[in-house]
Amino acid sequence: MAVFHHNFILTSLLIFLRNIIVAYSRGPVYTPPNVDRLTDRFSRLSVNQSYNVFFGGANVHVTNNGTSADLSLDKSSGSGLVSKNKYYYGFFNAAIKLPAGFTSGVVVAYYLSNADIFPHKHDEIDIELLGHEKRREWVLQTNIYGNGSVSTGREEKFYLWFDPTQGFHDYTILWNNHHILFLVDNIPVREVVHNNATSSVYPSKPMSVYATIWDASQWATHGGKYPVNYKFAPFVTSMTGIEMEGCIVNSKNMAPSCSKSSLSSIDPVDGEQFSKLSSQQISGLEWARRKHMFYSYCQDKPRYKVLPQECSAK
Ligand SMILES: *[C@@H]1O[C@H](CO)[C@@H](O)[C@H](O)[C@H]1NC(C)=O
Ligand SMILES: *[C@@H]1O[C@H](CO)[C@@H](O)[C@H](O)[C@H]1NC(C)=O
Ligand SMILES: *[C@@H]1O[C@H](CO)[C@@H](O)[C@H](O)[C@H]1NC(C)=O
Ligand SMILES: *[C@@H]1O[C@H](CO)[C@@H](O)[C@H](O)[C@H]1NC(C)=O
Repeated sequence: MAVFHHNFILTSLLIFLRNIIVAYSRGPVYTPPNVDRLTDRFSRLSVNQSYNVFFGGANVHVTNNGTSADLSLDKSSGSGLVSKNKYYYGFFNAAIKLPAGFTSGVVVAYYLSNADIFPHKHDEIDIELLGHEKRREWVLQTNIYGNGSVSTGREEKFYLWFDPTQGFHDYTILWNNHHILFLVDNIPVREVVHNNATSSVYPSKPMSVYATIWDASQWATHGGKYPVNYKFAPFVTSMTGIEMEGCIVNSKNMAPSCSKSSLSSIDPVDGEQFSKLSSQQISGLEWARRKHMFYSYCQDKPRYKVLPQECSAK
């Protein structure tokens, strides 16, 4: 009996320790709040319907009968896609699965930009997924530039509440005249309201949509301290669930295909569900920021002795 008892205690102790180790290595398990599923409102497009090759064509592979694309980074090149159309406001989604393993210095970016046509006063809305050295966790960074405001970074950074290498998760940018919303699996993680404080840097010109994977050794990881290690290449990210809905502009003269006044009736992206957060979305936003945000430029006093004015407007 004594032997059984000791074994029992020992086994219990080992299970207890294992649970601690598992919990520590995987991080806590989070149950995200329920939110309105905005991504369900739009149809999903094929890769060929929506994108052209931006760079590194040899590392772009369209799969699953045209509904998915694998983008890879190896020693020779990264790769990327650029939308066939340019948009003035819209709803943009990609379900992305990130490369597993050691991904220090690797960046997967899903973003809108018009740097190609307005090099000195460009706008940009960024979702950047940063491969990280520490605990091999990916980090989500969001940022915006408006009218060439490149000297002021407006980054916010988050840990994800799931393992982004194990399956596809939706990364969404909603951009209209009312606000810019960044969402992950439909949970808003950041809202940039278009108001007096933000108007001079609010992205307000047509942009293209990009999805890229690239070597950011010099940029993302403390100035090259943890560069990409090509021993672990190729780094492959998969993208599916493509949604792009918005006001398409004529790429020659940039004239919108929709007038401002018709946007609200024709284009759901300007409709009520897209111009204002629901109470569920507000709870989701608060949850994401309270539990998962670990950096906001609005709290970076060493960097900005005078914080950008929207930081105090809240
Ligand atoms: C593949 O896509 C084409 C056109 O998009 C469609 O007609 C066809 O049914 C699809 N095939 C399968 C197996 O899903
Ligand atoms: C998509 O486009 C690529 C080249 O642009 C082509 O090789 C491929 O067959 C196309 N796939 C589908 C499903 O149309
Ligand atoms: C925003 O700016 C406009 C014009 O500059 C001004 O009339 C308005 O009162 C301002 N709104 C707020 C909320 O400060
Ligand atoms: C954008 O910046 C330029 C200077 O580069 C300035 O002349 C222009 O007024 C700005 N536009 C807006 C909408 O703030």
